[in-house]
Amino acid sequence: MYYPEEIVEEVRSRNDIVAVISQYVKLMKRGGNYFGLCPFHGEKTASFSVSPSKQMYYCFGCGAGGNVITFVMEYENYTFPEALKVLADRAGIALPQGEETEEQKRQADLRSQLLEVNKEAARYYYYQLRGQGGERGYRYLAGRGLTPETMKKFGLGYSPMANQALYRYLKNKGWKDELLRESGLVKIDERGARDRFWNRVMFPIMDGNNRVIGFGGRVMGEGEPKYLNSPETRLFDKSRNLYGLNLARRSRRPYLLLCEGYMDVIALHQAGFDCAVASLGTAFTPGHALLIKRYVSEVIITYDSDGAGQKAALRAIPILKGAGLSVKVLNMKPYKDPDEFIVHLGAEAYEERIGQAVNAFLFEIDALRGQYDLSDPESKTRFHRAAAARLSEFDDELERNNYLEAVAARHQIPREALREMVNRYGGRRVTAEAEAPEQEGRPRKKKEKDEGFQEDQRLLLNFLATEPSAYRGLKGVLRPEDFTGPVYRPVAETILGTLEKGEPVQPAAILSQFLEDEETRNQVAAVFHTALSQESTKEEREKILTETVRRLKRARLDSQVREETDPRRLQELILEKARLEALHIFLD
Ligand code: GTP
Ligand code: MN
Repeated sequence: MYYPEEIVEEVRSRNDIVAVISQYVKLMKRGGNYFGLCPFHGEKTASFSVSPSKQMYYCFGCGAGGNVITFVMEYENYTFPEALKVLADRAGIALPQGEETEEQKRQADLRSQLLEVNKEAARYYYYQLRGQGGERGYRYLAGRGLTPETMKKFGLGYSPMANQALYRYLKNKGWKDELLRESGLVKIDERGARDRFWNRVMFPIMDGNNRVIGFGGRVMGEGEPKYLNSPETRLFDKSRNLYGLNLARRSRRPYLLLCEGYMDVIALHQAGFDCAVASLGTAFTPGHALLIKRYVSEVIITYDSDGAGQKAALRAIPILKGAGLSVKVLNMKPYKDPDEFIVHLGAEAYEERIGQAVNAFLFEIDALRGQYDLSDPESKTRFHRAAAARLSEFDDELERNNYLEAVAARHQIPREALREMVNRYGGRRVTAEAEAPEQEGRPRKKKEKDEGFQEDQRLLLNFLATEPSAYRGLKGVLRPEDFTGPVYRPVAETILGTLEKGEPVQPAAILSQFLEDEETRNQVAAVFHTALSQESTKEEREKILTETVRRLKRARLDSQVREETDPRRLQELILEKARLEALHIFLD
């Protein structure tokens, strides 16, 4: 059933969020907000906050956030219609009834149509694999050791030789060219329509709720490219989905196994390791890490043993740690990846390797050691210094000491000498990094800058939502285009549009636009919880606001100036920059 926006909004606004959440969580009033223990992650101090004025919740510990509808969805593990029904009943609202007709289905938004078309494609490929034309694909997968049950569990399929097979099939079912193109399954240009995938074994990619959002296709045997993936679409955001997560989230193991490939995930599941996931042929991102954090607090990386795999592991470690996950690295030598390891040594041997997985920090120090020639005293000293520099980054003394002992023992470094070196670095961390050029100091700077940029955007959006008087000074200065990304830009569009009409901004209603994707929704919730200290004076708030706007606009204008070739436009941009310096925003 597809519910119109007005109905959703009515149900939402007639269920007070504090009253609803209080049924599940013990809340205490503090200032204008309520606080309690977060029901979505284990914690001992209350970092879960509920805002009655914004009708939203947000956890400062795990980043879960949303409005009253998403709370019920999350807490009760309900689908959207289920949660809506419960809340409608609670408020005595009658939801519109009726069976969904074929036509209504088509009217439903693009996203659900794309989900539908992906599902049909998955079904099609699935039957092709089991039919006559799919024999070769079936033999290929069986030859790689996959059982029929495993193939079924992962919905594996086959895309036929003919390059319009899927296109014709879906056209016959009534799907329009426009939508098929949008799905990424078919390429349509002046030369006609062609299937993206043909003569490949197909791996449907599912989101956490078992809905097909894209595909990976592998050649059977040698050939380039080995894997072909669906392009990013409205449904398929590679940086926010993990292959296998739909199954792994139900695993009883307290950690996830993070691998590189589809086949690795499948082989691990088949061998009983039902907690395996992989990023989708792209680099591991902070979005992935947050996604994982919702289910477990520990990750064991099981990337390829070759140089590229180990490098990828070194890149993923700080991202995982950044999300507050504890990280270990599993060694599969002499085999290349989990799939090969299990084919040769079996599940028990792999289980043993899980037990032997090394702490990520120690893995990083091992990798560091590989860059030095330990038979040369000078090089060896530099290794010890670099290790000390890394150790000095631990702020917690106990933790630092424990790692120090472990590193000293593992690499036969005299413990007291190492301790002295660490203490020396402790006070001047920046210099220590300069002395250890092997460390990548630069990316971190860029990351910090990027974080600051995101923070600025959040701050500003929340400011506009809570202090509409700020808008007067920003009219004509701040535009939706000054905000970036799939979250801040649309939120900015809505807020600025609402303020332009002189209407009140309703954060919880804005959030309803993002119900589909939990990750995005949490980010929206974070926006509305990025507040300036309540204690700051009006003048201080005006100053912070003015400076934040300047920083944000300056960043955009600078990049425009760099790219602009038309001298007249350039002149205008420079003028706009000058005006920006004179900007001052006043609040009521
Ligand atoms: P098998 O050879 O089938 O065992 O694959 P693998 O999982 O061992 O593959 P590999 O380690 O080479 O690659 C890991 C992952 O990277 C794959 O699962 C794909 O997601 C992705 N990948 C590999 N090759 C390609 C390629 O040619 N193009 C794209 N887009 N992605 C690839
Ligand atoms: Mn492999």
